[in-house]
Amino acid sequence: MSRLSDLPLRIKFFGLMSLLLLVLLVVTGIFTYQRQQSLIVQFAIDNARTFAKELVETREYMSSVVKDEPEHNYNLVPQVVATQVARLVTQNSKFYVRQVSLRYRNPQNSPDPYEKAQLEKFRHNPPREVYDIVDTGGSELFRYMQPMLATASCLNCHGPFETAPDFVKERFPPGHYSYNYHIGEVIGAVSVTIPLKDLYAQLGVNFALDMAARTAIFLIVVTVMALIMSREIVAPVRMLSETITRVTRTGDFSEKLPRRSNDEIGKLIGAFNEMMDELSRRTVQSHESEERYRKFIEVAASAIVTFLKDGRIVIANHKAETLLGRSRQDLLGDNIFDYLEGGPALKEKLAGGQIPAEATSIQRVIKLGRAIEVEMVLTASQTDRDPMFTAIFREHAEV
Ligand code: HEC
Repeated sequence: MSRLSDLPLRIKFFGLMSLLLLVLLVVTGIFTYQRQQSLIVQFAIDNARTFAKELVETREYMSSVVKDEPEHNYNLVPQVVATQVARLVTQNSKFYVRQVSLRYRNPQNSPDPYEKAQLEKFRHNPPREVYDIVDTGGSELFRYMQPMLATASCLNCHGPFETAPDFVKERFPPGHYSYNYHIGEVIGAVSVTIPLKDLYAQLGVNFALDMAARTAIFLIVVTVMALIMSREIVAPVRMLSETITRVTRTGDFSEKLPRRSNDEIGKLIGAFNEMMDELSRRTVQSHESEERYRKFIEVAASAIVTFLKDGRIVIANHKAETLLGRSRQDLLGDNIFDYLEGGPALKEKLAGGQIPAEATSIQRVIKLGRAIEVEMVLTASQTDRDPMFTAIFREHAEV
């Protein structure tokens, strides 16, 4: 969790965005694919139905009108006409249409295993149609079958041997299983086949195009978001954090950032600039007051030394130079306790946290081997960090 939150904003945001869009892309892709697939299957069913209807109608019509004509012209046999019509109507498509029967006369009309199985099922309670997607060793086929029922006219040639036309009798001897059908009996079926590959060829192209369009949209969205995000959020925030780091290092509060907008980021930059103004004003003020203080103690009649809790001298006036017998350069950074006879005791007192608001004591200052007795007024000022102490010395008398 902490790893994720440590990642840069851009990566966090775009990782999430991209993931979301990708999931969306895949989900809608699957959905579209399934929809197109079901449309294609529906398209195959509709086509197969139309072909079957055309054939059944053709055969019906031929059967009801032909008498002895096939005697002289075998091409007028209803089955033969229907087969030719089927060939013509499917010639520009991948659909393959045939008419099959379990009790066939023409071996070309013998059913394949799938057709045989369906025809056997059709014997009792034939359905209006059946369709399936069948896997035939590597290639998938869409298969459709519609049973054909014998009508009165069919029995002219498919009824008893005796009443069949001569050309039928000649070709198919008595006892041939293609005779003796009854009205309503399943005599055969229209069988339509198309390789799924050919159906999907169309689908595949559409789907690829569709996915390409979606991917393009996805890329555009992500890129535009990346640009906006980087320009509007990441870059200003980075500039802000870099500036803060630099200001902390240099202490230069005069830096300002360009404000380009009035949105949240713009307001943040505005607030930062105001803060910098305020800080630089305060710094100037504190420098001024420090300066005033220095000038003030310089003209004072007493020696004045300001030091930290550990005794380190930070400010000393001219009189202090004279009293302690050292130049200001030497005094600054030196330890005040070293100059006082009661230094160690005072040091302990201050270290122990006993900070007097104001205390007067007599101290002996050692200067050039001589001890000078002075009166020391010690005041403490609590600054925000460490306490500072100011000692004012008034000379008593030389001993
Ligand atoms: C004029 C005679 C005649 C009539 C009427 C006729 N058929 Fe046929 N039928 C044939 C002949 C002959 C064949 C064999 C055709 C071939 O050699 O391809 C055949 C073949 C078929 C076949 C293909 C299976 C096979 O035996 O090779 C089916 C199915 C079929 N007929 C169904 C029908 C139906 C259904 C009707 C009524 C709508 C009908 N026939 C009417 C003579 C006829």
